[in-house]
Amino acid sequence: MEQIVYLNGSLVPRSQAKISPFDLGFLYGYGLFETMRAYSGRIFRLERHLERLSQSAKLLGLPPNAFDLKKACNATLRANKLKEARIRLTVSMGEGESAPDLPKHPRPTVLVTATRYVPLADEVYRKGYKAVVSTIDQDSQSPLSRLKSANYLNHILAQREAKASGADEAILLNERGFLCEGSTSNIFLVSKKTLITPGEESGCLPGITRQVVMELAQALGISLARREVQLDELLQADEAFLTNSIMELMPLAEVNGQRIGRGKVTQRLMQAYKEAVVKETKQGA
Ligand SMILES: Cc1ncc(COP(=O)(O)O)c(C=O)c1O
Repeated sequence: MEQIVYLNGSLVPRSQAKISPFDLGFLYGYGLFETMRAYSGRIFRLERHLERLSQSAKLLGLPPNAFDLKKACNATLRANKLKEARIRLTVSMGEGESAPDLPKHPRPTVLVTATRYVPLADEVYRKGYKAVVSTIDQDSQSPLSRLKSANYLNHILAQREAKASGADEAILLNERGFLCEGSTSNIFLVSKKTLITPGEESGCLPGITRQVVMELAQALGISLARREVQLDELLQADEAFLTNSIMELMPLAEVNGQRIGRGKVTQRLMQAYKEAVVKETKQGA
């Protein structure tokens, strides 16, 4: 069966989905996206993803949406008969001739795709990821930091650096040298039984998975700090892990060739995350 995609209000076969060559998302990266995961046919924390998108849209001057995005995401999942899936929602500024002359009456382009979720092998989670610290900084003062914008080249270049050195993920520091995030993930460390993650002032994306992990830590009575973090603290941490909506929590085993220990806090949170997913996605299913 050909993949079905949602484009501007319609579900169409992938081969028939056409976007204008004058779309400002294509020309200038003028757009936003969300990557979400569906479990048992339900999209986990869909509302939170849509809330993040709509807050960021205001910042970029993207007009409030003409389409029901919740319906669009669910319809795309169903049209592809998928239960375990990766959903990507992209909203761009739509057609315009050139920036900075933006369209007077913008008509955003809305695209939703759903693809089968292919899990990473258990072995990958057992071993954990290797990361390298990127040479690319995240500018915490840039209006683009903290947004999941279609202007993603910094993170792609950082990811390329990681792959070139045989690592799984690149870690970006901010312009002041503090820990920020992974190229496609947020970062946590555990030191002296405290769970620590860079605060949003670091320039990191306020990840949805990060948020869930912080809620779970609170519920489990794990002490939590959101603050500026030095790279050295990570290198000396008792445990560390990365988070995103697709891979959930991934233990971080090595940074710049230096081993990081394994521990119980990461394991407890990985388990608690799985339980939260089951609780929220199996209800009434
Ligand atoms: C740069 C960056 N930081 C953090 C995340 C984690 O965000 P979330 O938990 O919302 O998937 C992502 C997700 O892809 C990302 O690209």
